[in-house]
Amino acid sequence: MKRYEGETCVLAYSGGLDTSVAVAWLRETLGFEVVTCTGDLGATGDLGAVQRKAIASGARKAIVQDARDIFVRYFVWPALQAGALYEERYPLATALGRPLLAKLLVDAARSENARFVAHGCTGKGNDQVRFDLAVGALAPDLTVIAPMRGGMNMTREEEIDYARKHGIAVEATKKSPYSVDENLWGRSIEAGVLEDPWGRPPRDVYQWTADPEEVPAPPYELEISFVEGVPVGLDGEEQSGVDLIKTLNVVGGKYGVGRIDMVEDRLVGIKSREIYEAPAAVLLHQAQRALEALVLTKDALRFKARVAQEYAELVYNGLWFSAHHQDLAAYVRSTQRFVTGEVRLRLDRGTSTVVGRRSAHSLYQTALATYGKGDAFDHRASEGFITVFGLPVRTQARTQALWGEGSEAALEIPRKALTAQTDRAKPQRARK
Ligand code: ARG
Repeated sequence: MKRYEGETCVLAYSGGLDTSVAVAWLRETLGFEVVTCTGDLGATGDLGAVQRKAIASGARKAIVQDARDIFVRYFVWPALQAGALYEERYPLATALGRPLLAKLLVDAARSENARFVAHGCTGKGNDQVRFDLAVGALAPDLTVIAPMRGGMNMTREEEIDYARKHGIAVEATKKSPYSVDENLWGRSIEAGVLEDPWGRPPRDVYQWTADPEEVPAPPYELEISFVEGVPVGLDGEEQSGVDLIKTLNVVGGKYGVGRIDMVEDRLVGIKSREIYEAPAAVLLHQAQRALEALVLTKDALRFKARVAQEYAELVYNGLWFSAHHQDLAAYVRSTQRFVTGEVRLRLDRGTSTVVGRRSAHSLYQTALATYGKGDAFDHRASEGFITVFGLPVRTQARTQALWGEGSEAALEIPRKALTAQTDRAKPQRARK
C-alpha cells in the first residue's frame, strides 16, 4: 500500500472502535501523522475522554469541539423551517450532522496544514457520500481517505484484536447489536435483526422513547413558542435551542412519542429498514406545521410542501454545501417571516396532537369562519363564484357526456376511462 510519510491526515473521530482502530491503521499502514477531529452534536458525552482515547490510539493531536449550538442554529433550525422530512418521515438527524462534521474536519485540516482528511464510513451508506461531497464542496484540493471503504477491511473481531495489540481500550460493555448514530436531533438505528423489515423491533432498539403502552397515564400538554419559524420557548419560558431540544427529547420520549420505523431509499440504491427515535424533531415539525397552517396562504403552503421535499432530498443526498441549497434556503427563510406564535400539543401514549395554535399574524378570521353569530361572510357572493368556477365542468358535461346516462353509468370511473382509452388505442381496428 502507498505510504504517506511526513503527511498529516485529519480523521473525523467519534471515539468508537472503528475510528480508534483507524487512527492506528492510518499511522501504521499508510504512514500518516494523524490528527483527530471530534465535534459534539449532542451525543458525544465526555469530550476529554474522547481526546485521551484518540491520543492513546496514536493520534499526534486530538481536536475536540462542542458544536451543539452551531448544529442547532445553522443546520437543525433551517431544516425544521423547511419542513424537511425525507420520504415524508425521517427528520434527517444523521444527514444534517455530517456536513457540519465535514466542515469541522476541513477547518482542522486548514489549521494543521494537512492535505488529507479521513472518515470511518463504509462504502454502502449515505454517510460516506455526505462527507465526501461536503469536503469536495468546501475544499476541493483535499484528498479524502476512507479506510473502511477499502484497505482496512477488518471484521469486528479483527478490530478488537488489532486494538488490543495497539493499546487501544476496548469497551468492556457488550457491543450494541445495531449500528447507531446519535445527535441532538435524533437517534438512527439500523442493521442486526432490524434487517428483516417484517420483524417487530425488539425492545432494546429504543433508548430514548418509552413503549407507548407503558407511559404515564394522564396525557401531558405543552406549549411551544416560535419566532419566525424558530422555536424559542417552552410553556412560556425562553430556552436556548439546545436546551429546548434536549427537554423535548426527554418529555416526548417519556410519552413514547417520536418512534419511526420505515423502509427508506438510500442514495446508493439500496432499500434499507431504519428505526429512528426523534421526539423533539417529531414534536417541533408538527408544531411548526400547525403554525404555518395558521399564517401562510394556501398557495404558500402548497408550494412550500414541494420545496420541503426537494430540501429533504438534497440534505439526505449530501448536497448541503450547494447553490441549490442556498436558493431553497433563501425561499424558506422568506416564508418564515410571519411564523411567530404558539402551538399547544397534547402527548398521550405514543401520539402527539396539536390542540391549539395562535399568532399575531394569523390569517384565521373568526368572523369569516363562524357558523354562529357575527358571520361576515357574504353567502350570496358564493353563487357568482361557483357559476364561474364550475363553468369548465358544465361545458364538459354538455359536450363530452363524460358520465354517461343512467344512474349506474355515473359510478363507473374505471370502466369508463378504460373504454375510452381502449377506443383510442385501437382506432383503425374494424368493429364487428
Ligand atoms: N439512514 C440514515 C441516514 O442515512 C441513518 C444513517 C445512520 N448511520 C449510521 N452510521 N448508523 O441518514
